[in-house]
Amino acid sequence: MSNVPIIILKEGTEEVREREARKQNITAMVAIAETVRSTLGPKGMSKMLVDSLGDVTITNDGAEILNNLDIENIAANMMVNVAKSIDEDIGDGTTSAVIFSAALLNNALELIEQSIHPKPVMHGYKLAADKALEIIKEIAAKISSEDDEILKNVAKTAMNAKDIAPLKDFFSNLALNAIKQIAEEDGKTFARVSNVKIVKSPGKSLKDSELINGVYTQKDKVNAMMPELIKDAKIAVIRRKLDVKKTEFDAQVRISSPSEIQKFLDQEEKILRDYLKIFKDLGVNVIVNSSDISDKFGGYLAKEGIAGIKNVGESDYKSILKAVSANLVDDLKSLSEEDLGFAEKVHFEKLGDDEYTLFSGCKNPKSVSILLKGGLDKILSTAEVSLNDVLSVIAKVIDTKTVVAGGGAIYIELAKRIRAYANEIGGKEQLAVNAFALALEEIPKTLIRNAGLEEIEMLTELRAAHKTADDKWIGIDTITNAIGDNFKKGIVEPAELINHIIKSGSELANLILRVDRIISAKGSR
Ligand SMILES: Nc1ncnc2c1ncn2[C@@H]1O[C@H](COP(=O)(O)OP(=O)(O)OP(=O)(O)O)[C@@H](O)[C@H]1O
Ligand SMILES: [Mg+2]
Repeated sequence: MSNVPIIILKEGTEEVREREARKQNITAMVAIAETVRSTLGPKGMSKMLVDSLGDVTITNDGAEILNNLDIENIAANMMVNVAKSIDEDIGDGTTSAVIFSAALLNNALELIEQSIHPKPVMHGYKLAADKALEIIKEIAAKISSEDDEILKNVAKTAMNAKDIAPLKDFFSNLALNAIKQIAEEDGKTFARVSNVKIVKSPGKSLKDSELINGVYTQKDKVNAMMPELIKDAKIAVIRRKLDVKKTEFDAQVRISSPSEIQKFLDQEEKILRDYLKIFKDLGVNVIVNSSDISDKFGGYLAKEGIAGIKNVGESDYKSILKAVSANLVDDLKSLSEEDLGFAEKVHFEKLGDDEYTLFSGCKNPKSVSILLKGGLDKILSTAEVSLNDVLSVIAKVIDTKTVVAGGGAIYIELAKRIRAYANEIGGKEQLAVNAFALALEEIPKTLIRNAGLEEIEMLTELRAAHKTADDKWIGIDTITNAIGDNFKKGIVEPAELINHIIKSGSELANLILRVDRIISAKGSR
């Protein structure tokens, strides 16, 4: 008998082997990278996305474009998921992640086609990735969370490649103020972007956008007679149905006579009156309830000049708690003065077609809103996506406190040091480490190409400019088309962004290179 294993596959299963399998996957990944490549950087172009209903979106946001691609190849889908995870974690860098991952795999494919086994390629990539992370740790600039200038530059760099770039001074101030307001201290400073809520509102221009010291919630008051505006609001945030549940009555209540109906109503009345007394005694004039408020109780509240909103979702009441500094209370009997929150104003207003409750003038709120104003819906939506990215990168830098220079600088420096490292390594791994360095340079190369500049010439110039450690931040500014110290020019990004791109790109490469068969079940394509 022969030693060749016999693989029995179900009828209809399609099997693609070795070289062909790898090639299919990598070709699909490169094709995706080609789709987003031209959007990278300040001079990147936009894509026009047309959905199945014919709705058009024009965007240069990598995540948005990738979300709209209908991709069949599984490996390419994995790459898209890696890019999306970067967008979720850092808020930026999707396009770069795709370009880098695809370049890594394409370079690996070339080595494999020269009859180098995937094993040393994978090993070489692992060595190079570890080395790259080590280098970033060593050379990244350490900053403090008080370094407003750098934090603003991080914001502006992220905006350079977006439609809101002309307003980058305005929005970097707005975003930084928002993040600084919600930053918390717990041994170290940290900021959660989810505590900044962006609310879109029709207005003259994006420049009228403003930071609100408080939060917006898409809710209207439960009773029309409640006041529109409450000044010096004392706010109770509760999770308790303000209604009379049947079980609260004596189980034996059987209504068989008019007097019993009256008794029933009296009992209901009493329970509701007791609730009302609790609020009145504490001077509460605004109630935020994550549960229901009955129409009847809403009426009682309105008569007392108390406003209330009901069925407030978890993320909304959590931001209200943080903005007004209140405690969530389940049991009304335990509600006390300390649980109440405060806002100078609680106002019910309409923004566009929606009703909102605005809590403003909060004391040191740990949750804030940005009221994003603009004329066209599409402009507002694009600005919202970009602003979200900007808030995320600032928060990331406040958390991690390390930055590197963009405009290709970090990639050129990494490539240089990794090539030096390759010389220390012998064997086939050395070729892979060099291939890794080449993949890193794909980012500056693309930035140059997208600016319409001479790719090879500029890349050679950049490489040559990185002579000593002092030259580490030399990159290209594709707004002025000049080569120089990009850190000094304020082109900076979170070091964590590059870490993430390198880690996930190389993990993905490892995973894909290990595949030597594609076995698709019948009907999976
Ligand atoms: N003035 C500048 N000159 C050259 N490059 C710049 C400049 N400003 C920003 N960049 C670079 O542009 C790149 C980011 O481009 P872009 O925002 O289009 O892609 P991304 O961040 O990878 O993906 P995403 O679509 O998620 O934002 C970074 O490498 C950044 O350093
Ligand atoms: Mg970006």
